Amino acid sequence: MTATSSTLPTPPGQLGLPWIGETVSFLRDPDFMDKRQQQYGPIFKTHIFGSPAIVAIGPEANRFLFANENKYFVVTWPYSTRTLLGPASLSTQAGDVHKSRRKILAQAFQPRALAGYIPEMTNITRRYVEKWEKMGTLTWYPELRQYTFDVACKLLVGIDGATETDLRDWFETWCNGLFTLPIRLPGTKFTRALNCRQKLLDRIEKIIRDRQKQADPGNDTLGILLQARDDDGNTLSVVELKDQILTLLFAGHETLTSATTSFCLKLAQYPEVLEKARTEQQQFDSETPPTFEDLKQMTYLDRVMKEVLRVVPPVGGGFREVIQTCEFNGYQIPKGWSVFYQIGRTHFDEAVYPQPRDFDPDRFEEDKPTFSHIPFGGGMRECLGKEFARLEIKLLAIELLRNYEWELLPSQDLEMEMIPTPRPRDGLRVGLRRRSD
Ligand code: HEM
Repeated sequence: MTATSSTLPTPPGQLGLPWIGETVSFLRDPDFMDKRQQQYGPIFKTHIFGSPAIVAIGPEANRFLFANENKYFVVTWPYSTRTLLGPASLSTQAGDVHKSRRKILAQAFQPRALAGYIPEMTNITRRYVEKWEKMGTLTWYPELRQYTFDVACKLLVGIDGATETDLRDWFETWCNGLFTLPIRLPGTKFTRALNCRQKLLDRIEKIIRDRQKQADPGNDTLGILLQARDDDGNTLSVVELKDQILTLLFAGHETLTSATTSFCLKLAQYPEVLEKARTEQQQFDSETPPTFEDLKQMTYLDRVMKEVLRVVPPVGGGFREVIQTCEFNGYQIPKGWSVFYQIGRTHFDEAVYPQPRDFDPDRFEEDKPTFSHIPFGGGMRECLGKEFARLEIKLLAIELLRNYEWELLPSQDLEMEMIPTPRPRDGLRVGLRRRSD
C-alpha cells in the first residue's frame, strides 16, 4: 500500500548520534548490516552519510524500489561522486532526461553491437592470457585490472594499449576521488581527481573530434553513439558524450575487475566445478572465437557466472532518495530519507538459496524468483552494460578453461577486502600454465 502521507511507524532500528548517526560504525564494522538484520529483520532504519536511511532486504523490497523509481525514489550519489561523474552522466540523470539518454546509450549494448565486440575482446583476452602464461606466477587482481581497462578503452573508444598511456594514471586518480570528502584544497584527493577529470575529458574530446572527421565512425561504442538518435532524432552533444563515455569507462572497469577476479578464485577453489565447465567447452571449436549462438549453448558456464555474481557481487547495493512519502510492508518510508537496497544480502536469503554460503552453480538449474538475483540491479536503472559484462567474463573464462590451468599459491590472505569492490586481500596469487593435453 502507498500514500503521500502516512500514520504508520517507521521501521525499527536506531538513528544513532545527532548528525553523524551510525556512519562511523557503518564504515568500521563489517558486520554492521548483519547485526541489525538479525536484531530488526529485513527492513530497518539507520542514519548514515548525513541522512536517515531505510535498509530494505529481499526480493519484495527490491521489487517495490525498482517499480517506483522516479515516483517515490530517485537515484542519489555523494557530492564528490556526482561532481566527478559530471552533470551529463547517465548515473546522475533522472526522470525523462534519464529515460531518453538511456535509450540512446542502450544502442551500444544491443545484441548486434555486442556480437561486433567479440573478435576484438577475444584478441585482447588472448594477448593477456599469453602474457600471464609467460609470467608463470602472478598476482592476478592488478593484472585483471589492466585487462579490463584495456578492454574498456578499446571497445568503448578505440584506444589500443590504454594501460601503457597517461590515461591509466589519470583514470586511477579520478577514481580515487569518487568517494572522498569534497574538499577543494591543493593536493586533496578530490582536487587531484577534478584535475584528472579535466584531462580525461580533453582526451575523450580529441578522440571524438577525430572520429567525427572520419567517413566511417567505426563500430565500437563511440562509433555507435555518434550515430545513435533518440525518438525525436536528436543525437548526443559532444559535451554530453564526454561525460557519458567517462561514466561507461568507470562503470565497466572496476566492477568487471572484481567479477573476473572472483571467477578465477572460485574455479581454483572448486576443481569439480572447473572440470565440469571445461568438459562443456569440449563441444566447441577451440580455435575460433565463440559466436553469440555458442555462448547461448554454454549453459553450465552461465550458471557458474551467476553463482559467482551471487556469492561475490561486485556492487553491494544502491542508494535512493525518497521523494514522496510511501508505505511498504506496514512501515512508513518518509520523504527526505534514503533507501539502501541490498544486493549481497538479497543473494543470501535462505528461502531462495538453501545453504547460501555454499558455492553451487547447479542451484541455477531452475529459475529463481524475480529480483532475488540482482548483481546488476533492476528496473529502469538496471545495469546498462550487463550484457557487455557477461560477455567479457565469459570470453575470459572460455580462454582459460580451454587452454590453461591455474592454482592458488600458498600462504596468501584470501579474505575479501570490500571497498571499492570485493577482492582477495593479497590480490589473488596464482601459478598459471598452458594445459598439456
Ligand atoms: C560485472 C560487472 C558489472 C556489475 C556487477 C554492474 C552492476 C551494476 C549495478 C548494480 C547497477 C545499478 C546501480 C543502482 O541501482 O543504483 C549498474 C548500473 C550501471 N552500469 Fe553496471 N555493472 C557491471 C558492468 C558494467 C559495464 C561493463 C558497463 C558499461 C560498459 C556498465 C554500465 C552501467 C551504467 C551506465 C549504469 C547506470 C544505469 C542507469 O543509471 O540507468 N556496468 N551496474
